[in-house]
Amino acid sequence: MSEFKRTLITSALPYANGPVHIGHLAGVYVPADIYARYLRLKGEDVLFIGGSDEHGVPITIKAKKEGTTPQAIVDKYHEMIKESFEKFGISFDVYSRTSARIHHETASEIFKTIYDKGGFIEQTSEQFYDVEANQFLADRYITGTCPKCGFEKAYGDQCESCGTSLNATDLINPKSMLSGNVPVMKETRHWFLPLDQYEPWLKEWILEGHKEWKPNVYGQCKSWIDGGLNPRAVTRDLDWGIPVPVEGAEGKVLYVWFDAPIGYISATKELTPDWEKYWKDPETRMLHFIGKDNIVFHCIIFPVILKAEGSYILPDNVPANEFLNLEGDKISTSRNWAVWLHEYLVEFPGKEDVLKYTLTANAPETKDNDFTWKDFQARNNSELVAILGNFVNRVLVLTNKYYEGVIPIAGNLELRDEEALATLLQLKSDIEKALDTFHFREALKLAMEMARLGE
Ligand code: 2FM
Ligand code: ZN
Repeated sequence: MSEFKRTLITSALPYANGPVHIGHLAGVYVPADIYARYLRLKGEDVLFIGGSDEHGVPITIKAKKEGTTPQAIVDKYHEMIKESFEKFGISFDVYSRTSARIHHETASEIFKTIYDKGGFIEQTSEQFYDVEANQFLADRYITGTCPKCGFEKAYGDQCESCGTSLNATDLINPKSMLSGNVPVMKETRHWFLPLDQYEPWLKEWILEGHKEWKPNVYGQCKSWIDGGLNPRAVTRDLDWGIPVPVEGAEGKVLYVWFDAPIGYISATKELTPDWEKYWKDPETRMLHFIGKDNIVFHCIIFPVILKAEGSYILPDNVPANEFLNLEGDKISTSRNWAVWLHEYLVEFPGKEDVLKYTLTANAPETKDNDFTWKDFQARNNSELVAILGNFVNRVLVLTNKYYEGVIPIAGNLELRDEEALATLLQLKSDIEKALDTFHFREALKLAMEMARLGE
């Protein structure tokens, strides 16, 4: 038995700047949902938290593109995303949003607590500025070549090709997303989280204390920590976000990656007055389900925020997945290369489980994987219909035919019955082992073995 009394499952908050697609479902929400349902079935105390990430540059860029306001964008996509998740049966206990007042209050309080403890470094530095647009270029407002992998469209805060977390000034040949111009440097004052000061602690907590984390997660953490951490700015010169709650910070907002993970806390507060039990009791086990591009934020930056604040628990595990490709090509919003959930729901009404089955059978757990319609069709026909469907059908038809639709009392068991029962018990235990260690593909395969047993 575990040493924990309850489990808090968080799932990455998708940006409310567009609909969600199969990559989101496969990488984060289906595994998190399976895990939450599994614990509930076992009668455990579990909360499954979700919500929309409504701040940051991705939202303001989308608003500019659509000629509307950031608020209109997040209102539209929050509803759309929420509805897709509902229709796919993702069993969140709460699905909140980071524009909620409770979230603004929670994120401000946490910033203020760290600030009051002297936990930030206040620094004036030169940042990229677009003279034509009259604006500082935070995060995705700036693109350039990644110094690590050479990808030419890396963002100011992260390279989506190699996953490296960047500072805008690291980019080679930086360009403004707003005007396409080469930006100038201009002085501005910001608050930095001194990640470097937490290096010894991170080494002990992750590198020594969490060797059981998935190799992809542990490996990424190790390479960041070994590479040396730098102070990271947690405020931005933007007009969309949570105002920095200290004097002299007018016109500045919290960095989206400072406030977004705090959204898990705000959502729990929204759900229950008992929220502290889930966030402050060391007997709670917290798990973050995320995609691989979010690893640094959930394993390093958010834990440092929580540690700096001082009264919160830390994640016990971060079962991050790799990416799902579509027909051999990277899923891309800008190229509209995706299977969008709201469109799937229209094309295949009532077939939500078929997609969830296919995505789990082929989940990108250890490496990037590919979704193909051919595989989707094959899994539907030769696994769900031929094995599971047939099994269920046979059981129902035969029970109706010979036992008037009532499960009969077991009679004398023959050797093959004894063997089947023993195999079933073994399968149950193997499925539990797979689920306990976040091997959902394996668990599904074993569950199908149960149906095969009835052939
Ligand atoms: O990558 C993303 O889509 C982010 N919006 C995930 C945020 S997860 C959490 F921290 F809120
Ligand atoms: Zn890169």
